[in-house]
Amino acid sequence: MTSGIPVRAGGSPAADAPAVSVLDQQPAAERFLEDVLAGLGATPKALPPKYFYDARGCALFEAICELPEYYPTRVELALMRDCAADMAAQLSQGALLIEFGSGASVKTEVLLRTLHPAAYVPVDIAADALRASTARLAATFPALPITAICADYMQPLRMPELAHVRASHRVIYFPGSTIGNLTMAEAQDFLGRARSLAGAQGAMLVGVDLKKDPQVLHAAYNDAQGVTAEFNLNLLRRINRMLAADFDLDQFRHVAFYDAAAGRIEMHLESLRAQTVTVSGRTFAFAAGERMHTENSCKYSIEQFQRLAQAAGFRPAQVWVDADRQFAVHLLRV
Ligand code: AVJ
Repeated sequence: MTSGIPVRAGGSPAADAPAVSVLDQQPAAERFLEDVLAGLGATPKALPPKYFYDARGCALFEAICELPEYYPTRVELALMRDCAADMAAQLSQGALLIEFGSGASVKTEVLLRTLHPAAYVPVDIAADALRASTARLAATFPALPITAICADYMQPLRMPELAHVRASHRVIYFPGSTIGNLTMAEAQDFLGRARSLAGAQGAMLVGVDLKKDPQVLHAAYNDAQGVTAEFNLNLLRRINRMLAADFDLDQFRHVAFYDAAAGRIEMHLESLRAQTVTVSGRTFAFAAGERMHTENSCKYSIEQFQRLAQAAGFRPAQVWVDADRQFAVHLLRV
């Protein structure tokens, strides 16, 4: 199951940057179909957000990160630039740095410059993005051993034996407020598993979007250019392409709103009329106005996230927040 796919940095055979390897622990292709059929059969209908990230989905997410309304990426990156030295000072060098949802690894680059880990293990479900970012980092940090894992990190992970790497402890990096995709109960479970993976001397750095003015949140997920709508609808495009489905993208619309009681943004795809859709030979009926729930994006106050981390067995050690109190990076110790 685990096969190493050697990748040359820069994609050029002439590049003399080191070869890096991407371990393939991707969920079986059939899982996508099973998850979609289960989600469309449920009431209310729902689709898992991890399936947003095909090549087009990754490109759309990168475009979202550049939008004037979508503040989290910009604010978190600035926070990393300002505080990465301070973070590294709390973490000591020589760690095995494991990152979940590494994507383009832009924030990681900032951390790598100050943390000086013994090795870097990025984990992401999007194979192409992982391959591209790993090659770029290998060229930038030629002395750093990098072993990428293409996997759904919500499932138990098989950590590779890293021969030649002597890491004194593990640091798990989970930026981007990706933890917001999980419900609070799921997030607590996930943090508990991360704590086991980190080990006795381990620590975790988690980027978490803070609660704020609902209008700011609303705008961030309802951008004027409609990129977020495209990102949401792209899930149906992917299902059509990969699962022999016939979603008519003109007959669904993007819906995103802040639920203040739940403290989260919800994204949905809403059927514009009564219609049926076929997925791999199975038919699903939609009423006019019926929604598929495609994503949660939970927002946490500092205290709320610290309590959650504590319930998962971590000791909240420090938190870095930008001047406008939009985004937090938490240091959790085992
Ligand atoms: C990558 C999950 C953190 O929830 O803000 C962006 C994804 N969805 N716009 C988020 C997303 C709509 C993003 N995360």
